Amino acid sequence: MPDACPPPGATKKKLYIETVGCQMNLLDSELVVGKLRNDGYELTDDIGQADTILYNTCSVRQHAEDKIYSALGRIKNLKREKPHVSIGVLGCMAQKDQGAILKRAPHVDVVIGPGQLGRVSELLELAKLEGTPKLAVSLPRTAGSRDSVTASFAEYDPLREPLMRPSPFQAFVRIMMGCDKFCTYCIVPSVRGPEQSRPPDAILEEARTLVDQGVREITLLGQTVNSYKHAGLDGRQTRLADLLERLSAIDGLGRIKFLTNFPNDMTEDLLQAVRDLPKVSRYLHVPAQSGCDEVLKRMKRGYTIGLYEEMLARIRAIVPGASVSSDFIVGFCGETEDSFRKSCDLVERSRFKNSFIFKYSPRLGTKADTLLIDDVSEESKKRRNAELLAIQDAISVEDHCAFVGRTVEVLVEGPSKTASADPAPGDFGQLVGRTWCDRIVVFEGPGRLIGQFLPVEVERASTVTLYGRARTLEAVAGGVQGI
Ligand code: 5AD
Ligand code: SF4
Repeated sequence: MPDACPPPGATKKKLYIETVGCQMNLLDSELVVGKLRNDGYELTDDIGQADTILYNTCSVRQHAEDKIYSALGRIKNLKREKPHVSIGVLGCMAQKDQGAILKRAPHVDVVIGPGQLGRVSELLELAKLEGTPKLAVSLPRTAGSRDSVTASFAEYDPLREPLMRPSPFQAFVRIMMGCDKFCTYCIVPSVRGPEQSRPPDAILEEARTLVDQGVREITLLGQTVNSYKHAGLDGRQTRLADLLERLSAIDGLGRIKFLTNFPNDMTEDLLQAVRDLPKVSRYLHVPAQSGCDEVLKRMKRGYTIGLYEEMLARIRAIVPGASVSSDFIVGFCGETEDSFRKSCDLVERSRFKNSFIFKYSPRLGTKADTLLIDDVSEESKKRRNAELLAIQDAISVEDHCAFVGRTVEVLVEGPSKTASADPAPGDFGQLVGRTWCDRIVVFEGPGRLIGQFLPVEVERASTVTLYGRARTLEAVAGGVQGI
């Protein structure tokens, strides 16, 4: 017999949320949860107990979408047995597939794009009240004037939800929305809308609120975060370097990071700010995507490898000790063995801290999907992915070995993945922290160190992790290296 009403005695609606994709999605989920908790929901991590099940989705690659469609398939029976449960698909896939989601999964109640997240609560209610699914998406990029399309991607940066953060001491802050670069393979400009920079005062106010809540590290987010620019009423423009300077003045804020950077917008004033502002992490994620000029041209990235390497040289000249990481797409349309080798050579030369490597996944509606041919076999994509990763891994471990014997300063983020859940302040266990150049360090220590800056002597290293021993400031004879 289907259970048509909420469990007796339930006072708060129980919300289960799964998030796929990038940091921007993690932040969106935090904000949606914040709003729903305010509206009387409480979080559960047991899908069987939930009254509302939300999926915050990603459409950058097919694999991310497949994951969501199979999750939706799995909960079909749950909805049949408990029709009172509301199911929602939020985020990029909602904007991309729109009504097609309801056709494929008719048990879904709400489909809400990233530019409409402020309406989640209202739409869940409405769908329940009227008994029909609700669809809320923004305008397509070609649907009207830039202003009208931009207005349909509403800014959504309201309440913060400490429970949804990676740790109580770390928070994301969105400084930009959307993207105007239109790389030919990428769905982001159509699902996240036109590039918009948030007003600096709103960003500063949000950062201050977070610091008052105990946050020590803020990561500024934007698809092309270093393209940030905001013109005030007086006509004065604020750029990322100015924002970093203003944020640095917040007492209690210990560290500021920002991602993702676009190579052409890596200006000298920004690099000087990274060098001169001690609270700014010396870590720059600047995706190259390919090491071959012809491929970059087909991707419409707007730079050559010569220019990318000049930019790398600028980073290393201005910010000594900075670490740089990259993204690569392998098997993009027309990528020959020879062009792939050029990506391998670039990774060999560039000594990235790490690289994220993706197999090209055609996205409906993008220029590459319409005009180019996805002519690299899945097998070649897989092989190239593994090969490029192996080259990068060898470099990462080599660079990490150079840290052995050095003492680095880390911000302690929490228990390490292999350790048990939240340790009490006095509990001794494996903790994880990050250096100023974003390297992961695992060491033993009491839970009370979480959220603090601490010197750690590195004793051994692997591809992704440094392992060390916590020191006290007094015990570090040669001083801490801010690396
Ligand atoms: N296929 C594979 N990887 C992609 N990315 C973006 N679009 C695609 C696609 N269609 C990768 C890029 C980007 C990262 C976030 O995802 O490398 O930097
Ligand atoms: Fe996509 Fe290119 Fe914009 Fe990055 S810069 S979000 S890859 S279109």
